Amino acid sequence: MIPNAYRSLHCNAIRPEHIGQSVTLCGWVNSARDHGGVIFIDLRDREGLTQVVFRPEENAALAEQSHELRDEDVIQVIGKVAARLTGTENSKLGTGEVEIVATELKVMNKSDVLPFHLDREMSNEDLRMKYRYLDLRRERMNRNIRTRHKITTAARNYLDATGFIEVETPILSNPTPEGARDFLVPARLSPGKFFALPQAPQQYKQLLMVAGLERYFQIARCFRDEDLRADRQPEFTQIDIEASFIEQNDIIQLVEGLLASMFKAGQGVDIPTSFERITYQHAMDVYGSDKPDTRYGLQIVDMADVFANSGFKIFRTILEGGGVVRAINAKGFAGITTGQMIRLNELAIQAGMKVKQLAFIKVERNAEGILEYKSPLWKFFGEDEQKALIAKLGVEENDIVFFYAGTWDEACNILGKVRLEIASMQKLTEGSTALNFLWVVDFPLLAYSPEDQSWVAVHHPFTRPKAEDVPLLDAGEYGKVRAEAYDVVLNGYELGGGSIRIHESDLQAKMFSVLGVTPEEQQLKFSHILEAFKFGAPPHGGLALGLDRIAMLVSGEESIREVIAFPKNNKACDLMTESPTLVDFKSLRELYVQSTWKEKKKEETEAPQGTEAK
Ligand code: AMO
Repeated sequence: MIPNAYRSLHCNAIRPEHIGQSVTLCGWVNSARDHGGVIFIDLRDREGLTQVVFRPEENAALAEQSHELRDEDVIQVIGKVAARLTGTENSKLGTGEVEIVATELKVMNKSDVLPFHLDREMSNEDLRMKYRYLDLRRERMNRNIRTRHKITTAARNYLDATGFIEVETPILSNPTPEGARDFLVPARLSPGKFFALPQAPQQYKQLLMVAGLERYFQIARCFRDEDLRADRQPEFTQIDIEASFIEQNDIIQLVEGLLASMFKAGQGVDIPTSFERITYQHAMDVYGSDKPDTRYGLQIVDMADVFANSGFKIFRTILEGGGVVRAINAKGFAGITTGQMIRLNELAIQAGMKVKQLAFIKVERNAEGILEYKSPLWKFFGEDEQKALIAKLGVEENDIVFFYAGTWDEACNILGKVRLEIASMQKLTEGSTALNFLWVVDFPLLAYSPEDQSWVAVHHPFTRPKAEDVPLLDAGEYGKVRAEAYDVVLNGYELGGGSIRIHESDLQAKMFSVLGVTPEEQQLKFSHILEAFKFGAPPHGGLALGLDRIAMLVSGEESIREVIAFPKNNKACDLMTESPTLVDFKSLRELYVQSTWKEKKKEETEAPQGTEAK
């Protein structure tokens, strides 16, 4: 911090070598204590704390004045640095061996009593959000915001050093199909028309490649109107990257180096680069997720070979019908409580389980010391089948094995969620400092959406099919086509995703038509990109990292709200500025917009109880 008229040093800079010097400090009264007429102030600025002492025997008027100081008053103090009395040092503070004996005090602003204590953890998040500017004064929040700055700076430096150029792209733009709903902005000068806030700068960055920029990045604000979670906000930040004349491997290496530089800057750790790479198929088969947390086992095991001729008809029939039977062995979890069991089953039902209960086998020793396989199924299994099951799953005393039989999709989804919940119940990651980075590669290009009754892009429509799978695309075998797409995952969080892109106009048009975008719609929405690809578009690809998620993990937080200065709450509202707000009729008319929310509200209140308003 540069000395100026307000301060000669910051509040965490004073050390024994300054003893005897006169210093000027400024900041907030962190706490004030009266010890028999002697006032001790902990003075705080963003760097830390310094103790200031006002002694009546040294300056009675000043000590009197200091009596008036209250928490969070903003003051300037001039004083002499002195050693603290022996026994009163505070080893927890950098400045703990010294104190300032005040000679002058200037109160720059008084503070009202704060709505909450800054030194206590607060569970009332709404209150924190309403007074976010006070919440940000807390040490933890100050640290998080600064960590975010450090990792963002590291990312900028790394990308600059590797030849990337930072370019800003428009916020008022046209819709980008990234899978969420758009935020729309009425365009007053084009009556009846709307801008969409970018879900990502996807099309612009590709157009920058057509423009010959070759290596682009942006710390880009993105907007998605989707349901919120701890790792999702309606506006969030990406480190958005695109490069020309590159392959998947080049992007992977670049991003590993980038993440290493960010974790070094934020946590001081050296993460080994060359992350594990697993295919989407493997991730889904073994972890039931395309963003697996590999800090623990609890792997999903395919039991087809064990149950192919099972005495248990349900398993056998499902296998014969092309379904799967999969299992998870939760080691040492036979003591699962009834409440936990209910929770697991509820979760499985929410995830699509058709039956009421997950099939299970609990292995416990009975009073006679004999190992028992407690399960409604066990008796249906033949002896060989039982042995094969035990061997395949490594079943031992105190284990509990859960089974799911059904379609592959169901099994992945249900057991994937069950796996995460068991890990949380068993506290398998508690105290872990592991950073399990990995790449998921070979994603499918397309997935069938029963709701839309059409094929949808798994990443986005600009993702390139693998060259060897293009014949499958031509043959209409859409579900089998793999994409040149890759996601980077850390401890169960998707940190980023990207792909090599389509750069040919005809392939792009083909992709749109597979996705059910008619030629008219293509012209209307994407003519700029289809046309651009006709003017010498280079092969290109890229990726975007979620900066908020990285900042959250580097800071050891569990919600991205803790690393965003002014986040929205779980209803996508800003409680501090009370936005979004109602807009008056006149403003709407100027924008050629008519609001129907009043009619909607009326319909809702008039709808007979128990029915839903349309
Ligand atoms: P994708 O949609 O996978 O890819 O987004 C990239 C990364 O952004 C983060 N992210 C979010 N973070 C917080 N809140 C959200 N609502 C949110 N949504 C996404 C995630 C995610 O991995 N244009 C492509 C990238 C590309 O192909 O280059 C894209 O946006 O960490």
